Amino acid sequence: MTTSSAPQTPGTPLPDAASITTIACVGIGTIGGGWAAYFLARGYRVQAWDPSPEAGERVRALIDAAWPALTQLGLAEGADPHNISVHTDLAEALDGAEFVQENAPEVLEMKQQLLADIDEHAAPGVVIASSTSGYSMTEMAVKATHPERLVVGHPFNPPYLIPLVEVVGGESTDPAVVDWTSRWYEQLGKSVITMDREVPGFIANRLQEALWREALHMVDNGEATVEQIDRSITDGPGLRWPLQGPMLTFHLAGGPGGMAHMLDHFGPSLKSPWTRLEAPELTDELRDAVVAGCDEEADGRTVPELIAQRDQAIIAVRQVVEQLRRETGA
Ligand SMILES: NC(=O)c1ccc[n+]([C@@H]2O[C@H](COP(=O)([O-])OP(=O)(O)OC[C@H]3O[C@@H](n4cnc5c(N)ncnc54)[C@H](O)[C@@H]3O)[C@@H](O)[C@H]2O)c1
Repeated sequence: MTTSSAPQTPGTPLPDAASITTIACVGIGTIGGGWAAYFLARGYRVQAWDPSPEAGERVRALIDAAWPALTQLGLAEGADPHNISVHTDLAEALDGAEFVQENAPEVLEMKQQLLADIDEHAAPGVVIASSTSGYSMTEMAVKATHPERLVVGHPFNPPYLIPLVEVVGGESTDPAVVDWTSRWYEQLGKSVITMDREVPGFIANRLQEALWREALHMVDNGEATVEQIDRSITDGPGLRWPLQGPMLTFHLAGGPGGMAHMLDHFGPSLKSPWTRLEAPELTDELRDAVVAGCDEEADGRTVPELIAQRDQAIIAVRQVVEQLRRETGA
């Protein structure tokens, strides 16, 4: 690990991002495994730790399934899907790691202890990022000795294909660490949103959750089926979102008057109680109805088959959007 021209945490130099070769992934389920696949595709070595005895086998299957998609998008020189070691000892996985991505289950007490343990074993100055879906680093860092190097780096599933990462520090995070982490992910090829304050659920998950909560209410009340909800997005607003987000979409929905007309015209109806802000009671009936609806929609396709289809769709959409941006500045 070199330390030249790097920003400084109080007293401890941060790594030179350009010279990093080894990354630790702590927790290698859906997200940690997805991060591992991405890091490998970008040519890094990955050292992993996960308490589950099946974790090694599961991550191997995940990486093998993701590799064709990653190959299609272009691998870094020297990228090797086998350049990963799965350790039974956390300290061993952190030994020599120059960046840590934590991906343990979304349980606050577990994250608090795990981040403190990682902090204890990671080399000084190494940045430790958490994939948490919504906890603040302020609440997760309470047991760590060096909270200044802990930061949220929130990815989206699958992390090996979705570019977005939301980066935000806690009250004790050094601003230089937030800045370093954003630039590091950008260097990895990610699209980074750096938040200047902690907001539960960050940005995208707040938006996703609002939609999901409402969808569950609609199933619960018999207002829509699972299939109708999914198709209402994939054949509806979802088609507009790959290129233009919900704000620009409504700017166009306002016609020549744009967003100004949209707000003046439809703003008042926002007050009408279309949506429910409270989550529905997750009864067994609701759970079973949603699961059965998904099974029906899957129509016999297994989860790995659905993942392969999803990956192809994401790649196709990304390639078309990137080409449009290049050619038309869209
Ligand atoms: N699934 C998503 O769509 C998604 C998206 C973004 C962020 N996240 C976040 O990523 C994190 C991981 O979620 P996931 O969906 O991969 O969960 P998961 O259940 O698929 O994987 C969690 C992994 O952590 C391991 N684990 C259990 N206890 C551990 C411990 N004490 N220390 C380290 N590892 C431990 C488990 O064995 C498992 O392999 C969570 O914080 C979640 O909120 C999830």
